[in-house]
Parts: sequence; structure tokens; C-alpha cells
Amino acid sequence: MVIVIVSWVILMLASPTNVASLAACSKCGNIEVPYPLSTNDNCGDSRYKVYCNNDILEFLSAQGFYYKILSVNPSANTFIISPPTIASDICYSSDLIVGGLKLDEKSPFNISTHNTVMLLNCSDNILLSPLNCSSNSLCRQFEEKVMEGNVCKNTLCCTFLKDSSITSHRIRARVGGCSAYTSVVDLNPGSSPLSWKYGIELQWLPTN
Ligand SMILES: *[C@@H]1O[C@H](CO)[C@@H](O)[C@H](O)[C@H]1NC(C)=O
Ligand SMILES: *[C@@H]1O[C@H](CO)[C@@H](O)[C@H](O)[C@H]1NC(C)=O
Ligand SMILES: *[C@@H]1O[C@H](CO)[C@@H](O)[C@H](O)[C@H]1NC(C)=O
Repeated sequence: MVIVIVSWVILMLASPTNVASLAACSKCGNIEVPYPLSTNDNCGDSRYKVYCNNDILEFLSAQGFYYKILSVNPSANTFIISPPTIASDICYSSDLIVGGLKLDEKSPFNISTHNTVMLLNCSDNILLSPLNCSSNSLCRQFEEKVMEGNVCKNTLCCTFLKDSSITSHRIRARVGGCSAYTSVVDLNPGSSPLSWKYGIELQWLPTN
């Protein structure tokens, strides 16, 4: 009897039908959801939770704010989320209410080094390294070219170095600091701000 049970257990463990939890999730809208990203309990790895709400793939921050996922790159373990929207009548990011983007440090996600962050409507007390708030900072060019007609246009604005370690789990937005921000993936400083790729690239840890 014991031998029968043991061999049954071994068979179950070895059986390919027992790896259902390794399945990739089905598409969300027109975006592929590669393993280990998980939109529900029956697919992916539950530690890599993302959300499919009305065919829109979304990422939930540690602060409970949803960001739309614009694209996923399974070979680089990355996806790009939409930066918060900025109202035209007040220079605030839509995620200012939760203090900007914050990732759970225990989650398998972090903010990749491919992002250049533009901080808008900053107060003087934020003028610290590693921010570049000089008048020729790329953020000033962004304001000049992209924020036309927006109240952000003439506010104090700083650029974050993409490889700065403070970007790995949060991009802060706060009243009295910088109240709005956006981010550019793989920025080419020589090209026009109108052609930059706006988004925040997140990276996930491999499953092993
Ligand atoms: C910039 O942010 C401050 C709060 O830090 C706010 O009072 C002010 O209205 C904002 N400026 C603009 C142009 O929206
Ligand atoms: C700020 O950025 C501009 C444009 O990239 C650059 O020319 C300047 O040297 C930078 N300043 C500092 C202090 O890093
Ligand atoms: C994010 O995590 C990956 C995988 O552990 C790591 O290689 C990368 O350096 C991290 N990036 C940042 C900005 O901390």
C-alpha cells in the first residue's frame, strides 16, 4: 500500500499536467502577458501580480495606484507603464495623492536604469544632487517643447540621472517638493522632446 502511494506521488510530481501553475496568462486586450506575470490565480506566478481590468493591463503600486502597462518585453524582463497624467490647470501628477510611484521593496519589481525622470514644479529646497535643475537641464527643454499651454511650463524643473540608485523603488511627487513628473525610456538627449518615448520602465527579477 505504501509503495503504491509513493509511486503515485512520484507519478503526480513527474506528470507534465502538474505544471499548470507555470502556464503563461492569456492576452489582456492586445498585450501578451508572459510568464511569470500573473493576472489571475490559474496562470503565471502569483508574486508577479499584474491586473487585467476591462482589457487594460495594469500595474498596482505599493501605494494602491494603478498604472497602465503600455508594452511588455519578455526577453528583457521589463514592461513600460504609462507615467501619471498631469492636469493642465495645476502642475500636479495624477499620483500626487499617493506621493508618486512607490514599489514594494519586497516585490520582485524595480524601476530600471533606462529611465530619465523629469521633475516639474519643484521647490527651491529640492535643488540637491543628483538632480540637474540647471537652466539647460533636459527638463527645461521638455517644458519648453511639450508643456506648451500647460501651467507646468514655467515652473522649476529638474532632471534625474537614470542610473541614480534612488530611482529603483520610487519616484516621489509631493507638495513642497516636486508636485509633478514624467519619465522617458532610453532617452536620446540629442533628439527633440516631442519624439521621446514617455513611460516608466519596470524590471522583474527572474523567477530563480
Ligand atoms: C506647484 O506646486 C505648488 C505646491 O507645491 C502649488 O501650490 C502650485 O499651485 C503649483 N504650481 C502650478 C503652476 O500649478
Ligand atoms: C545638466 O544637464 C545639461 C543638459 O544635459 C548638461 O549640459 C549640464 O552639464 C548638466 N548639469 C549638471 C550640473 O549636471
Ligand atoms: C533591478 O533588479 C534587477 C534584478 O535583480 C537588477 O539587476 C537591477 O540592477 C535592479 N535595478 C535597480 C535600478 O536597482
